[in-house]
Amino acid sequence: MYVSKLCTLFISGFFLIRSINFHTSGEALRQLVVRSESLASVYSGAGGEGRYGAVTVRGQVEFGLQYNYKASALEIQVRQCRDLAPVDTKRNRSDPYVKVYLLPDKSKSGKRKTKVKKHTLNPIFHECLKFHISLSELETRTLWLTVWHSDMFGRNDFLGEVMMTLENKVFDDPTPRWYQLQERTEPFEDVQSYKGDIIVCLKFIPPDMTSHKKKRSRGALHVLVKEAKSLTGVKANGTSDPFCKSYLLPDKGRSSKQKTPMARRTVNPVWNHTFVYDDVTLQELAERCLELTVWDHDRLGSNEFLGGVRFSLGTGKHYGKHVDWMDASGKELSLWKSMLERPNFWVEGAFNFDRVLTAEYPNTHSVKIKCVHSCSK
Ligand SMILES: *[C@@H]1O[C@H](CO)[C@@H](O)[C@H](O)[C@H]1NC(C)=O
Ligand SMILES: *[C@@H]1O[C@H](CO)[C@@H](O)[C@H](O)[C@H]1NC(C)=O
Ligand SMILES: *[C@@H]1O[C@H](CO)[C@@H](O)[C@H](O)[C@H]1NC(C)=O
Repeated sequence: MYVSKLCTLFISGFFLIRSINFHTSGEALRQLVVRSESLASVYSGAGGEGRYGAVTVRGQVEFGLQYNYKASALEIQVRQCRDLAPVDTKRNRSDPYVKVYLLPDKSKSGKRKTKVKKHTLNPIFHECLKFHISLSELETRTLWLTVWHSDMFGRNDFLGEVMMTLENKVFDDPTPRWYQLQERTEPFEDVQSYKGDIIVCLKFIPPDMTSHKKKRSRGALHVLVKEAKSLTGVKANGTSDPFCKSYLLPDKGRSSKQKTPMARRTVNPVWNHTFVYDDVTLQELAERCLELTVWDHDRLGSNEFLGGVRFSLGTGKHYGKHVDWMDASGKELSLWKSMLERPNFWVEGAFNFDRVLTAEYPNTHSVKIKCVHSCSK
């Protein structure tokens, strides 16, 4: 099983390095696309929304990077592009826009886009794209900036990309610079991505007013983790040994950490396990975040991260202070809100792992590094 893990790791590293350093000709890629139309859809599933290889990439993009310490945010000043490839060759023009991800996060919520500029090969954007992310987390990411032609019928065309690892990057010069646009060479299937759903129920139990015991709890949060479905299988025969871990953030200590038992050899574990967080009030829960992560249990201790979700009011703040873990939105936010609004009542939902920001979960990166060591022995 370590061999398979090593392979996954090796392959993802390989693709990332290749896609940064090597660029095969646009002609080769175009032939590939002509040979197999379905390839376009495979590519578009990989964090994209269009097709590659319809035009030969050319031109440059000008942008600047700045880390805003006050706001804990990366700010990307997208100035302009010049000499882009024309998708409408007859009229010699395209409708370009710029899109950015910080890999490995390719989720919808990790995407930033500029507006579309019509009928030009030299679009001027002057837009600032912001990512709220801690500096240490940023160091683990790769900036993936792509330029696209916007198509009315949703078949957008790739006009080029810039890929840049942010490790050891010093953000001391926000001056915009010109970067050559490159062809896309490899799909992203093998860069870490997470899949699966988790089914969770929440209930707040208010303090028992009728009880006359001296030690009365202020209230309790019950978290029933029912099951997960279609997880990634990381062991040799395509299964995992998944367990679910829970924290009530910001507390990452022993009192906050709870775990389900491990389910054996399955990608559809049924845990039916309840975590109880005692002695919490509704007011406190409004400022806190429940983080559930799912891991593949490994006997050597290098557990592999399979996915996670966070429930909170998604305010981005903890008692007025900006924090990146109060980041819930959509269904996760709604469920947390329903739980707060309906004490004594189970609220339930199914949540997908694809919007996960990998490394913001505790220890996911150190785990990966540990795996490299244990595998290479
Ligand atoms: C296309 O337009 C660009 C400027 O937008 C111009 O420099 C170039 O010569 C044009 N090409 C043709 C074939 O008309
Ligand atoms: C995977 O292998 C284990 C034993 O190594 C076995 O118990 C399990 O049934 C296998 N699962 C599948 C889906 O083949
Ligand atoms: C899960 O627990 C509930 C009640 O505790 C029970 O009704 C249900 O059958 C259990 N499901 C499984 C699959 O064990």
